[in-house]
Amino acid sequence: VREPDLRGRHVVVSAGGTREPLDPVRFLGNRSSGKQGYALARTAAARGARVTLIAANTHLPDPAGVDLVRVGTAVQLREAVLKAAADADAVVMAAAVADFRPAAYATGKIKKKDGQEPEPVVLVRNPDILAEVSAERARAGQVIVGFAAETDDVLANGRAKLARKGCDLLVVNEVGERKTFGSEENEAVVLGADGSENPVPHGPKEALADVVWDLVVDRLG
Ligand code: C5P
Repeated sequence: VREPDLRGRHVVVSAGGTREPLDPVRFLGNRSSGKQGYALARTAAARGARVTLIAANTHLPDPAGVDLVRVGTAVQLREAVLKAAADADAVVMAAAVADFRPAAYATGKIKKKDGQEPEPVVLVRNPDILAEVSAERARAGQVIVGFAAETDDVLANGRAKLARKGCDLLVVNEVGERKTFGSEENEAVVLGADGSENPVPHGPKEALADVVWDLVVDRLG
């Protein structure tokens, strides 16, 4: 049994994938299940943390002993993360956040009209929540963790993203043809802003979650 090294700490974890509505029945979304974020929430609770799990469109059992906040869109996720981050020791952004959302929302269902071409969907940028919480640092010494999926030059691209986002740790997953086999397995490299590089071998999402919390605990001092 692991010692409760997150006791007295408040950690915020985002999970799942945002949905950006076009009208009351349609949205732009992604395939994120939220499993990695839920594993992070469960392991943090097991290590004694107070956990706020901000879940975007997940269909997973509620983890025990965790404050669960449900959101739909990136804008809602941003509000919830900024609010919870105000007194957090660590923020882990495991959610897949839509980079863009439809510029307009139709309050009634969009209808097809006979003999008429469809209207193009115009998109606008969503706020970058990870970059924002990293720039703000609501609390001194707050540790901020991001996730990134890269297809090539994984480490170089990961390093560049870590610098661009301004977070302390970036969990980089290699995705692509060579890695699709056995995709239920998780393999990652955790890059640190201090130049550190921690490879995490294939294994359950809980194992990766525990490595992330080990690195967070190191940085919390
Ligand atoms: O830029 P990219 O989407 O590759 O970065 C992924 C990381 O940034 C994830 O941790 C994700 O939660 C976060 N992110 C965010 N806000 C966005 C897009 C991504 O916080 N608009």
